[in-house]
Amino acid sequence: MAGFLDQIEPMKEAALAELRKALDLSALEQSKGSWIGPNGKFTALMKQLGALSKEERPSAGKIINAAKAALEAALAARREELELKAALPKEPTDFTLPGRRRALGKLHPLTQVTEDIVRSFRKIGFVVADGPEIEDEYHCFDALNTPADHPARDSQDTFYLNTPDKLLLRTHTSSVQIRVMKSQPPPVRIIVPGRVYRRDNADATHNPTFQQIEGLYVDKNVTVGDLKGTVEFVFKELLGEETKIRFRPHYFSYTEPSFEIDFSNALVKKLGKDWLEIAGCGMVHPQVFENVGYDPEIWTGWAFGFGIERIAMLRYGINDIRLFYENDVRFLKQF
Ligand code: DAH
Repeated sequence: MAGFLDQIEPMKEAALAELRKALDLSALEQSKGSWIGPNGKFTALMKQLGALSKEERPSAGKIINAAKAALEAALAARREELELKAALPKEPTDFTLPGRRRALGKLHPLTQVTEDIVRSFRKIGFVVADGPEIEDEYHCFDALNTPADHPARDSQDTFYLNTPDKLLLRTHTSSVQIRVMKSQPPPVRIIVPGRVYRRDNADATHNPTFQQIEGLYVDKNVTVGDLKGTVEFVFKELLGEETKIRFRPHYFSYTEPSFEIDFSNALVKKLGKDWLEIAGCGMVHPQVFENVGYDPEIWTGWAFGFGIERIAMLRYGINDIRLFYENDVRFLKQF
């Protein structure tokens, strides 16, 4: 018994020294195996416990267990040290270097322009309304007093869906006028930004999908003067205080009288022109009011619609509409 116990202390010391010296995790695992693994030296010593007498076994067992616990504690401590060391950078770190910042994204130029337009209209009491991009002929055409033989309704001009009820991709945001008026009594003061679709071939100024903003104002005693004043206010906000606008007579089936809006400012002059056409508008046709159940003897109103791309192109000096949809970051980063 004495010889057996005498071996424990020096063996423990030797094992501790080796474990503490291990230079990395794999060296540590290796010396763990050689001492307390199944074939380890310390394990072999423990196996001799069985050869001791019944009386000797408890105290010897105690001593051996204490030694084993000390080895395991040393093993865990060294492992923690080595793990920490492994996690540290190999190169020295210069903590005075500036941090790396994540580059922030930006809103798409069309979204920026839309938000500016919406902000201007909000100042004068308009709210944003919304409607579906997949429409039916009723909201897109019939209720807007657009007859069946109108070219906009031709399959060469409009994307029809292959459904029995002739659903289509809306050709303009004017369909939302009908949806809003049908859902609430007057007065109405809305703007509707949204995507529209037409069967155009893409070129520098056309794309089969683009975005519009529709406006609708319905109240008593509304005049063309209100329309002109509102349009002037918003365009000056958008394109600069020196912006001038003019109304040219035109035809739309859902307004009477109807106009096209031209505007003029330094940008237009730069393009070598005096005026540039920008929007359609007019006084809401009495038939449209009839169609939505508003009494045209009581209610009056105006509406307009314009393309957002057109305004963004002018504002930023962009000469090809397709740039908006290619999502080339080199283009998008500029705005
Ligand atoms: N919907 C027309 C278009 O897409 C634009 C338009 C013209 C809208 C006159 C209106 C309006 O509300 O009154 O070209």
